[in-house]
Amino acid sequence: MNTLESSSKIKQLIASRREGWTLPGAFYQEDDIYRTEMNSIWRRQWLFAGHTDQVGQPGDFFVVTVDTDSILIIHGLDGTIRAMHNICRHRGTLICQAESGHAKKLVCPYHQWSYSTDGTLEHWRGMQEDLDKSELGLVKLPLRTIEGMIYICLSASPPDFDPAYNSMLPMALPQGLAQAKVAKQVDYIVEANWKLVWENNRECYHCNAHHPQYMRANYDHYNEDDTTDLIRRKIDFAIERDEKRWKDAGLAINHKRTGMVCFPDPDNDIWYASNRTPLAEGYVSETMDGKQVSTLMGDYPNADVGTIRMRTMPNMWMHGSCDHAVLTRLLPVGFNKTRVSVLWLVDQNAVEGEDYQLDQIMPFWQLTSEQDWEICRLAQQGVSSGGYRPGPYSTYKEYNVDAFVRWYLKSLSIDL
Ligand code: FES
Ligand SMILES: [Fe+2]
Repeated sequence: MNTLESSSKIKQLIASRREGWTLPGAFYQEDDIYRTEMNSIWRRQWLFAGHTDQVGQPGDFFVVTVDTDSILIIHGLDGTIRAMHNICRHRGTLICQAESGHAKKLVCPYHQWSYSTDGTLEHWRGMQEDLDKSELGLVKLPLRTIEGMIYICLSASPPDFDPAYNSMLPMALPQGLAQAKVAKQVDYIVEANWKLVWENNRECYHCNAHHPQYMRANYDHYNEDDTTDLIRRKIDFAIERDEKRWKDAGLAINHKRTGMVCFPDPDNDIWYASNRTPLAEGYVSETMDGKQVSTLMGDYPNADVGTIRMRTMPNMWMHGSCDHAVLTRLLPVGFNKTRVSVLWLVDQNAVEGEDYQLDQIMPFWQLTSEQDWEICRLAQQGVSSGGYRPGPYSTYKEYNVDAFVRWYLKSLSIDL
């Protein structure tokens, strides 16, 4: 199918979507739609790459693979963290094959052209004198950080990052994300299209059947239809109590009385969000028993800071408690697979075995994540079937899934 035919097919599919209903199955199983997404969304928008602690020392690097593009995130010997295409300027060979490591210079394995850690071409053996080395540095990409969270954009003219930065900074700053270290990273290949992973993330309709740990710790899974008077009184009490404490401590607040914060917002092109919300009675951290499991992060004066959430389309969400934070990064690896990396962060001075134990900070989000991956896998199997027909979203519980789908279709349409 040529590009024009593919474009017109996608437009027809978009037009055929019944408002407030799930997407047609083609969006989860056709390679030309996946290719269009890669160019319209993933090569155009800001992507969460990782945390600055992963490149803590000059020379440290890690590689982010976005579809067929390999991107090097490297802490230069000059002290600057950069994003560059991991591709030699000679005949285009992949330079770093390791997923992460440490290098004083970057040497292409093919003919050994070598580059400094800032991407400048330094040595080339056997090349004629009349060529200009300065034209042949590694291709750099836009990079921004929010308190240690690294964002890159594969487009040379990225969307404005400042609104996201300004909106998320008041949540990220007191959490001390810039002074955090990665205590653990776990990578998964989830057998589902990246949109199914987001659709699942954008509702808690499935929570009571799948997430016993999350249900016990949080209030935001309640929606208008299931918030009884008793629960409403509990939530109101928690909000009133916590808001006062948080205001006194100068912490940013933004929550809904019931339900999840509305995100994304395609009508206003909002691809970022952050909020603080109370934890359930008896919980000061998103852990198995609700207890604090590491030293306090950032500027937190005490453990009663509720929980913060931050998210950016198309590939990051995070949950922060007083003592640890969990960042989730999505990278599609085909129309039916998504690589998901989950990073557990603690204060950079916390010592494993003394201040925290991995088996105390990890289980809550490890279990919750893995519970999600399994239902995403089942969802992919279903939407790939000839028997699949679109179904309706609950306006009580799936308003954010609908918002996600509308954001997706709007973003996808940009080049059609
Ligand atoms: S392709 Fe890299 S040195 Fe030749
Ligand atoms: Fe879930």
